[in-house]
Amino acid sequence: MLNIILCGAPGSGKGTQSEYIVKKYGLEHLSTGDLLRHEIASGSRFGQQIDAIISKGNLVPDDVMLRLIDQYLEKLPAGTKGVIFDGFPRTLNQAIEFEKMLAHKQTSSHLIDLHVDEDELIHRLLERGKTSGRSDDNLETIKKRLVIYHHQTEAVSKYYKDLKKYYAVNGTGTVEEIFGRICSIVDSL
Ligand code: AP5
Ligand code: MG
Repeated sequence: MLNIILCGAPGSGKGTQSEYIVKKYGLEHLSTGDLLRHEIASGSRFGQQIDAIISKGNLVPDDVMLRLIDQYLEKLPAGTKGVIFDGFPRTLNQAIEFEKMLAHKQTSSHLIDLHVDEDELIHRLLERGKTSGRSDDNLETIKKRLVIYHHQTEAVSKYYKDLKKYYAVNGTGTVEEIFGRICSIVDSL
């Protein structure tokens, strides 16, 4: 299986680029943010608990996320070519436990890290916030999400750097230009 983690700060283009990668390479796409928002939309008690966390810009606890990922991996049909993991893992602990799960399935993953300046990230998310309806697309929560990204998620990049499975990509330019940079990495894997 070809498993790719698309990593990067909030607004770096993970969701946008995932759609392109899925179309070109025939991979599955798991956005943990979308999965959680789907749960919120269902109105379940679990969804209400998640909503309280996401709307403050905090991370959902590792044990919850790891259970969801485990369930997702178990349900993957035999013959799946691979998966784009968009927004997961987001903490060092998630990364370590995730690689253990993949190792059980005789596979592993590579991390592509989208680099975008903070001013551009804030600009993109405020623009999206005008129509997205996302409870976390407001300036206060965006700033909190960026702080959490630097404090918790950058450790994930370091972990994959140490594993020599890390690829940095300039995430500014047109969507097509960035996709071209990603393709040259994916083609080499
Ligand atoms: P999640 O949904 O993953 O949000 P995020 O990481 O904050 O990232 P976004 O989805 O906001 O941005 P993106 O990188 O996908 O960019 P996009 O393509 O949309 O997570 C939300 C929350 O869920 C977390 O805060 C946390 O609470 C929880 N959560 C999720 N996963 C978790 C985990 N593993 N552990 C714990 N908690 C978890 O692009 C952004 C905008 O920019 C769009 O409007 C787009 O059109 C535009 N754009 C894209 N590319 C370009 C470009 N090249 N030029 C100009 N504009 C562009
Ligand atoms: Mg996204």
